[in-house]
Amino acid sequence: MKIDKELVEQFERELDPQHLDASKIKAKLIGFGEISTIFELEAAPGVVFKRMPMFSNRAQARDYLEKYTRYCSFLVKAGVNLPEDSAIVVEKTPKLTVLYFAQQKFDPNSIGNKVVDFLTEDEIRKLAEQIFSTIYGVWDFNQQNKEVDLAIDSQLSNWVFDRQTGALFYLDTTTPLFKINGQEQLDPELLLTSAPSFGRAIIRKFFLQDVMDRYYDEKFVNIDLIANLYKEQKPALIPLFIEVANRFSSEKITQKEIADYYREDKFIWQLFLSLRKMDRWLHRHVYRKEYQFILPGKIKR
Ligand SMILES: Nc1ncnc2c1ncn2[C@@H]1O[C@H](COP(=O)(O)OP(=O)(O)O)[C@@H](O)[C@H]1O
Ligand SMILES: [Mg+2]
Repeated sequence: MKIDKELVEQFERELDPQHLDASKIKAKLIGFGEISTIFELEAAPGVVFKRMPMFSNRAQARDYLEKYTRYCSFLVKAGVNLPEDSAIVVEKTPKLTVLYFAQQKFDPNSIGNKVVDFLTEDEIRKLAEQIFSTIYGVWDFNQQNKEVDLAIDSQLSNWVFDRQTGALFYLDTTTPLFKINGQEQLDPELLLTSAPSFGRAIIRKFFLQDVMDRYYDEKFVNIDLIANLYKEQKPALIPLFIEVANRFSSEKITQKEIADYYREDKFIWQLFLSLRKMDRWLHRHVYRKEYQFILPGKIKR
């Protein structure tokens, strides 16, 4: 995919993460991830950029990019359709390198959590089958390739469904979680750079490995996808998704498991976000350092 590298570099050099509107190169926010922020640049229509401001030097960003590339090629081998993509490394200061991933932009109404608003129940059931079938394709791949273990974040907002062609794409590739011979390839500390400095020890000790491991686990991945329908304000779809999941799943999932899981997950992410907001405040008023991340406002859960 062809990207105007200079445009992205210039955008990064002029960017004040806390005042996106002030940028000379006009940008629109599309989404917030737990780690990346997603923009569209007015001068580069049809492309989204996922900004990851967490590397202390170019080599570290290159290394991450290499993991990303490997992860994507494994996913493709496992039968997952991925968008066209590209990457740009911007060395902003001697201490900060920012990695941008570019992806072809999809129609917002085709993103999983949106597209279901336009589908009939029958079509939603087919979409759910297609999603679970892709996920189980990944588990099959893991079975057949003993040295590789791929993780996947199955939430509805990570899928794109093209109603015209019936094609399903997976978007959320920028956290390359995979193991080679049981070895996690992604340095978990990198995920923690977006966490507040004072909270890292707690997160590291209690949540991190646990949260990462979930994405390798068949049952958890199913539960996470379904429980997330609460957050998407689509609880009415839960029974349908449970029914389809249970057709694929080796272990049956119940409504109660979904509700219990959601309560815990919501707690963890709300805690994480409020710690990050506290950290941003400390950066501004106490440490007097630029805070690199762009945080969402209140998230409805
Ligand atoms: N290529 C894309 N085209 C259109 N929207 C996108 C694209 N990539 C991401 N988005 C939007 O941004 C959201 C978050 O992107 P994602 O890659 O899943 O990041 P995260 O890891 O932060 O969840 C998506 O759910 C979707 O709404
Ligand atoms: Mg996502």
